[in-house]
Amino acid sequence: LVAGVDTSTQSCKIVVRDAETGALVRTGSAKHPDGTEVDPQHWWDAFKEAAAAAGGLADVAALSVGGQQHGMVVLDADGNVIRPALLWNDNRSAPSAEALISELGDGSREAGAQAWADAVGSVLVASLTVTKLRWLRDNEPENAAKVAAVALPHDWLSWRIAGYGPAGDPTAPLGPQLDKLFTDRSDASGTGYYDASAGQYRPDLLERALGRTDVVLPRVVGVAEAGAVAHPAVAGGATATSLGSNGCLVGPGAGDNAGASLGLGMTSGDIAISIGTSGVVSAVAPKRTADGSGAINGFADATGNALMLAVTLNAARVLDAAREVLDVDFDGLAELALQAPPGSDGLVLVPYLEGERTPNRPSATGTLHGIRLATSTRAHLARAYIEGMLCGLADGLDALRAQGVSVDRVMLIGGAAQSPAVQQIAPQVFGLPIGIPEPGEYVADGAARQAAWVLAAAADPDAAAPAWSTTIATTLAADPRPVIREQYAAVRDLA
Ligand code: XUL
Repeated sequence: LVAGVDTSTQSCKIVVRDAETGALVRTGSAKHPDGTEVDPQHWWDAFKEAAAAAGGLADVAALSVGGQQHGMVVLDADGNVIRPALLWNDNRSAPSAEALISELGDGSREAGAQAWADAVGSVLVASLTVTKLRWLRDNEPENAAKVAAVALPHDWLSWRIAGYGPAGDPTAPLGPQLDKLFTDRSDASGTGYYDASAGQYRPDLLERALGRTDVVLPRVVGVAEAGAVAHPAVAGGATATSLGSNGCLVGPGAGDNAGASLGLGMTSGDIAISIGTSGVVSAVAPKRTADGSGAINGFADATGNALMLAVTLNAARVLDAAREVLDVDFDGLAELALQAPPGSDGLVLVPYLEGERTPNRPSATGTLHGIRLATSTRAHLARAYIEGMLCGLADGLDALRAQGVSVDRVMLIGGAAQSPAVQQIAPQVFGLPIGIPEPGEYVADGAARQAAWVLAAAADPDAAAPAWSTTIATTLAADPRPVIREQYAAVRDLA
């Protein structure tokens, strides 16, 4: 058996699958505090709780962790977390991002933005780890001075699972061996100091942010190498996680978006649109581009391809906000929205409720346009919220196309994709047929798939990845209603 873990912004989810067939055997999950700044200890506690809920992991031969990208976990020389992790959705480092951009290139923002895109695949926004390190240097110099290692959420949790951790912690029998931290290319590619094209860290960029390079960065390992070096989870975990002393291999893991792409079995031409805490439009492509406009992040996937992403901050929470205003539940919102016509008779929400990342407007607020007596109904409002959120994602899809990404198949995933209104309105906004895959834990599934691969590679380094497939359960026909995007485009930039 193999296990896949998703350490997400809100919870830890674990799937246990048969290594050869991919058949689902059991699952477990546990919530932990969320927000934008969190003590990583909560992720470890949630992992243990989820492992217990999954009936323990003692019979699991390999495990991989997928996780929320970009979060800054800073460790001191004894392996202690220095301060709560600053997560991908924390915007405080937006000015640091701008400062770093203007420092690269010839001093103009445009040249700096292009220089970062060329160097690491992405123009900096507050989400990327490198900006958080600059923020730490400038705002908490005493903490910055203590930094001995910088990890991402999935790197840190993998290290803990493999038996490492703070000195003196009974659940970390291997102690604070910082040089045993490991990661994978997909998550490393979202730091802002790793060049996935060259497969190398950029210590010069780290130095720009933190002012030093004498910190440990997790070793970037591949699947075959992970099998060979076999980070065996040890008996210390046994008490804490029921991982047992059976030498369970811990794979390199992945950033959550790369994990989902693996779980969905995406190949070139596939687009996934995920409506969760973040809104993500992602495509697997043979090679990353360097989009100096910043709309597209050129990350790496968990295999050997590029993973091109447009990420919005206003996704499921726009629907949550609508539910709050209208005092309805998830189904109630869908029912209301479907009572209004496409385009909501001209009522348009630009949904930048607490800033936006794509387009990069960290301090924007949302705006509602076209309020008339006729559009002052709960149904119009419900529909405008859903249409506005989807238009933000459709802009992301256009930005991917502008980078030359081919769009052959679109899949809609994430909690909000289960809403009947989202399912009906999405083909109208995107103008494309849309597949809804079987509901699943795609990130954890992708991690499990990688774990199966690690296990196979441990036996034979040239082994192919096991061929598990994800079936598309429903395909929604294209039903273009151009008015929705036209009226959105007319007001989007007025905000
Ligand atoms: C990707 C991003 C988010 C997080 C969510 O760049 O910031 O999708 O990975 O966990």
